[in-house]
Amino acid sequence: MNGKYRPLWLNKNGDLEVLDQRYLPHEELTRVLKTGDDATEAISDMTVRGAGVIGNVAAFGVYLLAREFENNKDKIIQESAKIRASRPTAVNLMWAVDRMVEVIKNSNDILKDAKAEAIKICDEDVKRSETIGKIGCDIIEDIMRKKNLKNFNILTHCNAGWLAIIDSGTALAPIYEAKKRGIDIHVWVDETRPRNQGANLTSWELLDAGVNHTIIADNTGGHLMQHEMVDMVITGADRVTRCGDAANKIGTYLKALSAKDNNIPFYIALPLSTFDFESCDGVKEIEIEMRSEDEVHIMRGIDSNGKPQDIRITPKDSKAINYGFDVTPARLITGLITEAGLIEADENEIKKLK
Ligand code: MRU
Repeated sequence: MNGKYRPLWLNKNGDLEVLDQRYLPHEELTRVLKTGDDATEAISDMTVRGAGVIGNVAAFGVYLLAREFENNKDKIIQESAKIRASRPTAVNLMWAVDRMVEVIKNSNDILKDAKAEAIKICDEDVKRSETIGKIGCDIIEDIMRKKNLKNFNILTHCNAGWLAIIDSGTALAPIYEAKKRGIDIHVWVDETRPRNQGANLTSWELLDAGVNHTIIADNTGGHLMQHEMVDMVITGADRVTRCGDAANKIGTYLKALSAKDNNIPFYIALPLSTFDFESCDGVKEIEIEMRSEDEVHIMRGIDSNGKPQDIRITPKDSKAINYGFDVTPARLITGLITEAGLIEADENEIKKLK
């Protein structure tokens, strides 16, 4: 279970230990989760985040419930509903809990089977993200050939690296693969207000991997695109409908609009577990998470002595509102990079994957 590019692992006491993403990049702290409620809290308070990793922690959360409530199947299943409801938008969370509950329903050795299933979900994610990396990188090479490029500029939003889906992510997987293949690649990293997953997490991952990158304020992308400084936009997703609409971190839609206006390919990278075959019109049907306004008011960083601090950046009596995600309509998406290949963001194509 333990691997360099995994933000969660079973520790020597058999508890789930996770990298606490709230404190990156300045502090590398871990948090130990011993109960199902601990898992629910870690998902809702963003100790762990990113669609895939939320699903992984949820799966292990159900295992922790099996440890707490031993052979009481009904109690485990009832309690797992709390984990399932810990965040509303990322469908991997519901998918992983449902898969765990199905195993528990049919099991004669709940603890053993729950642990094996949670490990299996994680191991499958590793394979998925590896394949997404290769397919995505083939697309990069193809664009470079067609445009006769010597180097390649990608823009990404939020964090869809190994902190979000083990071991190499979704949107960042093709970038890591490109680095492996020796492609001269540079990444524009959207800071991703309000929580700054780009500025804090994507930059931290790319630095560690030696990938050339530049952090930009969220509003910069359109300008870069107008000046031919972006060859491709790639992001992850939290939920993609059967008609190809994609929910991802707030601000993704604006990048897709700029990309369309500037004729720049806009790709979404996702594992098949991120499809929601029940919904079609993402704008109408996907529940968008509302988060605390404090995430807009307060930022974390280090002071001039290197000491971590939370600071308020807004007037104390101003209100704020914090939508966690937005929906990019299928018509703005060039293609969906999945472990099953490059798919058109189109109902007829997506339904074949079911
Ligand atoms: O609120 P977060 O940080 O969990 O949002 C994460 C994203 O929007 C990612 O882009 C998404 O989960 C895809 S990564 C597998």
